[in-house]
Amino acid sequence: MQTLDTLILYCRSGFERECAAEFTERAAMAGFSGHPSYKGDEAYVIFNLHQPGAALQVMEEIEFRSLIFVRQWVACLPMMDDLPGHDRVTPVLEQAAALPLCNELFAETPDTTSGRELQGFARKFSSALVQQMRKQNRLLPRKQKADWRMHLFVLSGKCLWLGVSPRRNSSPWEMGILRLKFPSSAPSRSTLKLEEAWHWFLSRQEQEQRLGGGKTAVDLGAAPGGWTWQLVQQGMFVTAVDNGPMGEELMESGQVTHLREDAFSFAPSKPVYWMVCDVVEKPSRIADLVVLWAKRGWCREAVFNLKLPMKQRYREVVSCLDTIRSELDAAGVTHRIEARHLYHDREEITCFLDLRRE
Ligand SMILES: C[S@@+](CC[C@H](N)C(=O)[O-])C[C@H]1O[C@@H](n2cnc3c(N)ncnc32)[C@H](O)[C@@H]1O
Repeated sequence: MQTLDTLILYCRSGFERECAAEFTERAAMAGFSGHPSYKGDEAYVIFNLHQPGAALQVMEEIEFRSLIFVRQWVACLPMMDDLPGHDRVTPVLEQAAALPLCNELFAETPDTTSGRELQGFARKFSSALVQQMRKQNRLLPRKQKADWRMHLFVLSGKCLWLGVSPRRNSSPWEMGILRLKFPSSAPSRSTLKLEEAWHWFLSRQEQEQRLGGGKTAVDLGAAPGGWTWQLVQQGMFVTAVDNGPMGEELMESGQVTHLREDAFSFAPSKPVYWMVCDVVEKPSRIADLVVLWAKRGWCREAVFNLKLPMKQRYREVVSCLDTIRSELDAAGVTHRIEARHLYHDREEITCFLDLRRE
């Protein structure tokens, strides 16, 4: 029987090095040795574990949500790289027998231009496969509960990986991507970053409790107003701090006060519920600003972006998060911080800071 010794880690194209560095470190901390391999701009990393069959165990030991640059992870059987054109289904079916039972299959490709061109083929092939798997009881009916989800990661018509991810400890979305529709009345595409942040960092129930009407918010580096637009949609009253102009329609909502001030010297006249910050600045300066807000008790929750430098991006992220944690611990500020390279992020990551004392 073939064993699951390999993990495929999906990431944003161009961030393979960060994804590999983060995962190698986290696997080592969890007691697993392995080596990553990747090529630039392929949008995935292959992580070969040195202990045979350890891929499922790793997924038990590491909390997926604590990873920043890994969009999705899949424990895989050996790559199938010479599938016959006349019958690809049979060899894949045979390989699938070594996987734990699943009730759905995600047909995926790398998130690159050439990967996207393969999606039509991947979908067609997977629907033929699903039909056969269900016939042979190798894939449970969708209604039946299963701990695992099957993934077909297609690299070409001849070459693919077959694997699984744990439903309770992985991204729930195909390719690890939450696709959101751009709201046409929002003043900028950045709006999708904050919307995705809420979907990722808060459960549906938490969104209802912690967003919702009547709350107050400060948006630092707000112009032209994509993030403010999201806050306004939630019924909040927003102080938007930016020297640049805000979208006119957004200002007509009556829920926005625009202050042409510097985000680093601005202080709210009284504490607000949310602070969000998308200022383009050195990440260490943003980390210091967030620490200041938290220590002064100026907000209860915060979402902020760290714009990443070109080099040493992973180290910079670790250092900023360490600074925030250690400074807040030293000041006795109860907090929880999470970070993620969201699908709608580019050369940046999004962080979430929970300062509620509940
Ligand atoms: C990426 S844009 C923000 C986009 C915004 N979140 C949106 O959704 O439309 C960054 C903004 O930060 C502002 N900015 C840069 N430095 C600033 C500072 N020191 N104080 C306030 N705003 C600043 C810029 O004027 C710019 O509008």
